[in-house]
Amino acid sequence: MPVTIVLGGQWGDEGKGKIIDSFAANADFVIRANGSANAGHTVVTDRGTFKFHLIPSGILHPSCICVIGAGVALDPETLLGEIDQLHARGVSTANLRISSRCHLIMPYHPVQDRLEETARGADAIGTTQRGNGPCYADKVARRGIRLVDIVDPEQLTRRLAPILAEKNALLQALYNHPPFDFVEMSERLAALGERLAPYMDDTEMIVQDALDQSANVFVEGAQAAMLDIDYGTYPYVTSSSPTAAGVCQGAGIAPTQVDRVISVYKAYVSRVGSGAFPTELTDSVGAYLREHGAEYGTTTGRPRRTGWFDAVQARYTARLNGATDIALSKFDILDGIDPVRICVGYRLDGKILSAPPPRIADYDRVEPIYEDLSGWNTGTSAATSFDELPLAARRFVRRIEELLGIPVTWIGVGPHRDQLLDGRAAD
Ligand code: GDP
Ligand code: IMO
Ligand code: MG
Repeated sequence: MPVTIVLGGQWGDEGKGKIIDSFAANADFVIRANGSANAGHTVVTDRGTFKFHLIPSGILHPSCICVIGAGVALDPETLLGEIDQLHARGVSTANLRISSRCHLIMPYHPVQDRLEETARGADAIGTTQRGNGPCYADKVARRGIRLVDIVDPEQLTRRLAPILAEKNALLQALYNHPPFDFVEMSERLAALGERLAPYMDDTEMIVQDALDQSANVFVEGAQAAMLDIDYGTYPYVTSSSPTAAGVCQGAGIAPTQVDRVISVYKAYVSRVGSGAFPTELTDSVGAYLREHGAEYGTTTGRPRRTGWFDAVQARYTARLNGATDIALSKFDILDGIDPVRICVGYRLDGKILSAPPPRIADYDRVEPIYEDLSGWNTGTSAATSFDELPLAARRFVRRIEELLGIPVTWIGVGPHRDQLLDGRAAD
């Protein structure tokens, strides 16, 4: 049962979209499993650059069926906008299927997200303000609206009436926000439901049937394990579970059906939004990584914070996810930096930690312990195999493998879909 999961192993934006796109050429299915339009996955091709927020990154391959799984919080307007943009560029969405069980980002969710962030003041999480957190909170509180609800106008009005009354009362009482109009919202959602109905399906059973026939299935995680609601830098996290277990749940795949988990890491680290970041660089090297690595949010355009590769964090997320392979991206961005540093431990109050601490105040205080490796001056972006990389670059890769105990199977040396090397030496 060949299911492969692709996950972020840091704080997001590791280049998951590019990796999924490269696998999708030979995939039967790509399933996006969690998150919402807070995600931004980039694929660079000869036809131009594509930025996907909700649509799975396999959509450019016509033979691949792309599924938005039940674990995704679906913003119908953003999705329809993405579909329209793809059509305008000549990309078909005929193979797009959406789980009827997806919860919807409702018009009040981004509003609530913004108001809550403002109320947090200096403690703001730095969310993408796409309504992600409020939508998942409502889902768990059992006052969510699902895709299956809006394709049936009668069911929609029955379900929306009490939910909207409660939401209006809450937003009014806490933030003095004017109420949303019930009739206007019902009509708007019914119209969206009509457009989305042709894409809606019982995707979980379609995928299970395909797996019975040995289909080649890839699961595309959004965000990353360090943003996980349970295992990330809580409360500076997202509101879903971007771990291997979490994306199984979101995709409708059983853990026993998975045989490969690919953890994607940048050759350095970036983070967008607030929260601990032990290896953060606020000096000229950090600025160089941001500018040279084009580290600006795919979804919000915010500058990303940057820092050295953190093997403590990477090992922690690899273990939690049961990673079998590493995809190391943006390797080319380290070209010309000497030395290159890897954080191999955290020191806290004189003790050495081998994994991130659970308490955020401790996390803020840890001092990274660095190992310095020689840099390389030769550019790597034109390399077509591992053996063509400079010796120091190959040593950097092997050191990461040693520290994590997992093979680096792919190395990204540029944004284009073809700039992806096999991490194994030819010998
Ligand atoms: P995702 O959210 O994990 O899919 O990653 P994003 O698309 O948000 O951010 C990754 C950025 O790095 C995008 O602009 C990609 O085009 C780019 N990228 C991906 N892999 C590489 C690589 O190996 N080298 C370089 N230079 N850029 C890359
Ligand atoms: P991809 O899939 C990077 C971050 C936000 C914020 C925190 C909570 O492209 O890797 P949210 O809007 O989810 O409530 O914000 O999570 N965040 C991401 N950071 N990449 C992402 O997605 C992210 N999705 C959310 O910046 O710190
Ligand atoms: Mg991204």
